[in-house]
Parts: sequence; C-alpha cells; structure tokens
Amino acid sequence: MSLKGQHILSSSQFDMPLLDELYGYADMLLPVARGQMTTDVLRGAVLGSIFFEPSTRTRLSFDAAFMRLGGSVSNTTGVEFSSVVKGESLEDMARVAGGYMDALVVRHFEEKAIHQFANSINIPVINGGNGSGEHPTQAMLDLYTIRTEFKRLGKNIDGCRVTMAGDLRYGRTIHSLIRLLSLYKGLTFTMASPKGLEIPQDLVEAARAKGHTVKETHNLEASVADADLLYATRIQKERMSESEKAANEGMVFRITKDLADRVAPKDVVIMHPLPRDSRPGANDLSNDFDNKDPRLAIFRQTDAGLLTRMALFCMVLGVEKNIKDSLKPATWWRPAYTSNNDAAFYKTGNK
Ligand code: NCD
Repeated sequence: MSLKGQHILSSSQFDMPLLDELYGYADMLLPVARGQMTTDVLRGAVLGSIFFEPSTRTRLSFDAAFMRLGGSVSNTTGVEFSSVVKGESLEDMARVAGGYMDALVVRHFEEKAIHQFANSINIPVINGGNGSGEHPTQAMLDLYTIRTEFKRLGKNIDGCRVTMAGDLRYGRTIHSLIRLLSLYKGLTFTMASPKGLEIPQDLVEAARAKGHTVKETHNLEASVADADLLYATRIQKERMSESEKAANEGMVFRITKDLADRVAPKDVVIMHPLPRDSRPGANDLSNDFDNKDPRLAIFRQTDAGLLTRMALFCMVLGVEKNIKDSLKPATWWRPAYTSNNDAAFYKTGNK
C-alpha cells in the first residue's frame, strides 16, 4: 500500500509491512536527525501546522522533520489567533490552507475536527492529536522506540507483557498505540488506571479479538510487577468534567523510582509520551528518575519523533525513493550523545 497523498488520521491505517517500510526510511534518515547529513528531498514544499491545543514536542518535531527534509513550515497556534474567533468554519479554513500548503498537520480539541479538515481539503492532513481520540504519529514513534529498545535487550515484542498506566480513558496516545501493538502476536496488556479513567471498552474488545490478553486493574503496584514495557500517561485533567475532577481529588497514582526499583523487572522499558506533570503531588511518572536511567526511554522516544515524522512526510509526499541519493554531509557542529543508550539508539536504529 502506498501512503502517497493519503491523510493520516488513525493508527488503524497501518499494517506491519507498511510500518516496516516506514521504519526502514526512518533508519535511513538517522544521520539527518543527528545533523550529520542533510537532504533536500522536500525543497520548495510548504507544510501548514495548525495547533489548537497546547503542544511542544509534537509541533517542534513535525516542524523540524519537514525543515530537515528541505521544506519550510507555516504555523498557526491557538484558536484565539485564528479566524475561528470570527466564526470561520473548519471546512473553509481547510480549503484555504489547501491552496497554500502541500500538507497539513492539525491538532484540535474536538475528536471530529480532524475529519472535517480531511473531508474539505485536497492535500494530505496528518492528525497531530484529536481530542481524546487518537495520536497516530505518537504511536508510530512509540513503536519505533519499543522495537529499538527490545532489540537492544534481546527481547521479542510477540508474547511480551505491556503495562499501560495512567489516564487510559482520555489519553489518546494509548488509544493509538494499543492498535499498533495489536499487530503483533500474543501480548498481555495490563491496563492500570485510577477509577473512572479506564480504557474504552471497544479498544479492549478489539485487542482481544486479535488474540491478546487484556487485564484491567486499579492496582498500579501489582500491574508493574512483570512488565517488559511500562507505558505511563498523564492524567488529562483538561478533558474531565468538574465531577470527574472532584472524584479524582486526593487519589495517588504515581510511578516513582522507588516503585520501579521495588516491583518492576530490572530491564523494564519505561516510556511516556510526555509532557509528564512534574508538579509536587502530581499523579504521573515521577521526576525522581535520573534522566540517564537506562530503563527510561522517554527521550529516545522524543528523538524517534523526528525520525519517524521525517519518514512519514517522505512517504505521504512520495519522495521516499529519493532519500538515499540525496544525502550529503552536514558541515555544522553537533554535540555528542548524552548517554550510552542514546548512542546505541542512533547507531542501530530499528534494523
Ligand atoms: C500527548 C498528547 O498531546 O496527546 N503528548 C504528546 O503529543 N507527546 C500526551 C499528553 O498531553 O498527555
């Protein structure tokens, strides 16, 4: 299947051959991500980036990806600075952007907005997060990271044990990732959430229908005990009603270094889409982990965002076959890797 000209709205659009192809191009682009090589496969192309919800890494990495391929980016962030405040429909906005841009990345707080964009435009639209729906490119970079970490550890994804912990109801990254992980065989998913923030049942059923075991629990500590992968997410307070917020008042759901040391297997891979809430008392992956802790893959995850989004742009705009011959040495200074695992990540990639 070719991705050329396609909208990227859901991780359910991907199968394993397509992911293998995408990650092959991502690996090819490793030296570009490291600033060792340059490419100009997208010279002259323009990306529109429309973010109506807060974002740091998603927006930066989409922008950096397009620009490192030789293209340029035009941004608009915040509803308050867009013509939405003048009553413009998303359909009109999409049509306008389609006349200016070659592709569009959209993040919107309403689940259906991404489809309104996609249905009103003739250029590829990439979902940068639609409400509590999906975040397909996050899942792409998450799976790239999982493949790389598991390879380093000599583990298989088939048959592995995955614990997803946190706000599984509103956390869209989980919704996209469980679909991609379900392409493997015989996984055991342990879905650990505070009460009221359980994973939507249709996702549980879909994973079970593919032959995976899915357990649901409110007991965080027990859920971590035999995990090969622990994927933590932030509590999405901004998506909750006042009564849901009140119901969660005072609860403790925190993944600390102490908990990981005591309960989790020594070689557990710990991931989080970020941002993690670092405020005192936050129910999240705690900041007391050393950022160089080998278990913590969160910054290799963010690094993978650049790679996988570059690969995706190449495929969606149909230039992936030009990458190889386009690579030229870069001339500017770049710092060394910050940890051994980071160095290994860039050395081997996904191959
Ligand atoms: C997440 C998001 O926006 O869905 N972050 C990200 O894009 N990496 C997670 C979150 O906001 O909790």
